[in-house]
Amino acid sequence: MNAFDFAPLLAPGLPPPAVKWTGFAKYNFIGGHNDADQVPLDDLIAAANAVLAREGRTLATYGLESGPLGYRRLREFLAQKLKRTAGIACDADEILITSGSLQALDLVNGILLNRGDTVIIEQATYQGALTRLNRLGVHAVGIPLDGDGMRMEALAAALEDLKRRNVRPKYIYTIPTVHNPTGTILSEARRHDMLRLAERYGVPIFEDDCYADLIWDGKRPPALHAVSKNGGVIHIGSFSKSIAPALRVGYIVAEWALLSRMLALKTDAGSGALEQMVLGEFCPKHFDAHVPMLTRALRAKLETLMDALNEQFGTAAEFDDPKGGIFLWLKLPDEIDTLKLFQPALAAGVAINPGPEWVTDKAYGKSRARLCFANPSHEAIRAGIAVLAEVCRREFGVPNRIANVERARA
Ligand SMILES: Cc1ncc(COP(=O)(O)O)c(C=O)c1O
Repeated sequence: MNAFDFAPLLAPGLPPPAVKWTGFAKYNFIGGHNDADQVPLDDLIAAANAVLAREGRTLATYGLESGPLGYRRLREFLAQKLKRTAGIACDADEILITSGSLQALDLVNGILLNRGDTVIIEQATYQGALTRLNRLGVHAVGIPLDGDGMRMEALAAALEDLKRRNVRPKYIYTIPTVHNPTGTILSEARRHDMLRLAERYGVPIFEDDCYADLIWDGKRPPALHAVSKNGGVIHIGSFSKSIAPALRVGYIVAEWALLSRMLALKTDAGSGALEQMVLGEFCPKHFDAHVPMLTRALRAKLETLMDALNEQFGTAAEFDDPKGGIFLWLKLPDEIDTLKLFQPALAAGVAINPGPEWVTDKAYGKSRARLCFANPSHEAIRAGIAVLAEVCRREFGVPNRIANVERARA
C-alpha cells in the first residue's frame, strides 16, 4: 500500500519532528524523573479506592462537579498548603489545576507573549522554558546567578538597559526555590530586591516553584508571590517533583482577572480528573509525611553522586552542593565540550544533559552538564559516573586520574 503523503499538507512553521523513544539509557542522568522507590504507592492505591468509591460518579461530568479550575478538594489542599509553607494567601478560586506545570508555562506565555517580545530569565534555566521562548520568537535576556540565586545588580543593570532602549520586558521568569539546574535558593533579601526592581520597572514576576518542597532542611523562604505587595507575581507549581511526574498535575496561582484569561486559552475541557481526585484524597492525609521521606532518599543519592564524582573525576569535577531537588550542575574542565561528550557517553550507556541546552550564554554552558540523581539506583549512580569518567578521558584526556590511578592519554 502506498503511504498517503501528508508532507505537503503540514502547517508551515512546525517544530522539528519528535524522535522515536528507544528506551532509557542504562545510566540515566537526564530529565526530571523521580525516585521510583519513593512513589507512595500504598497510600495512592488507598486514596484511589476511597475517592472512586465515594465520588466516582462525578466522572460523568466534564470537570467532575468542580468547574473548569480543577478538582475542588485538591485546590483547597493547595490553598492551605501554600499558605502554611510558602506564605501565599490565596483561596481555592485563585488556583487553576493544569496538566503538569508545562501547561502552566504555556498558559502564562499564551496570555502575555508575542513574537518579538523580551523577557528576563536566569542565565542557566529550565530547558523547557527556553525552548518555548525560542519557539515563540521571544528574546530572552539571561541574568547570571551565584550561590544565592539571580544576581540583583545584574538584574538592575539589565532592566535599566532595556528601559533605555524603550523595551518593557513581559516578565522576569525565575525558579527561585531550588533552581533548575544550579540547585540554589534565592535569598530572602534578594527576593525583596527583586520585587522592588520589578515594581520600579513595571515588570511582573513569573515564579516557577516546582522544587520548593524538596529542600534538605525543609525550610524555605517565603514565595515571591507571598511577599509581593502589588499582585504582580504569577506563581506556578507541580506535583511532579513531590509525588510523581507521570501524574501530570501542576497549578497556577493568580488573580481571577488573569486566570479567566488563561482559562479561555485552556481548550482541553479540563486536565485529567482521576489523578486530581487521587491527589485530592492523598495529600491532606499524607503529603506532609511523604515529603521528608522523599527528600531524605534524594539527599542520600546526591551524597552517592558527589562521592562518585570526587572519586572518579577528582579536581576535574567542580560543583556546589545543591540546596535540595534532584539535580547537580557539574562544571568540567574548559577543554570539555559537553555537547561533544553527550554522544559518546550515550553510546557507552550514560545519558547526561549537556550544559549549553540549559543556558542563555552558550560559552558559560559549554563545559557544564546537568545530572539528575533521583531515578538511578545508588549502584547505577556509582557505575554510571565511572563510565562517564572513562569516556571523558578517552575523548578529552581528562580526568587523567581515575579513582586515584594515573592513566596515560589513550
Ligand atoms: C523549572 C521547571 N518548571 C516546570 C517543569 C515542568 O514540570 P511538570 O510539567 O512535570 O510539572 C519542570 C520539569 O522538570 C521544571 O524543572
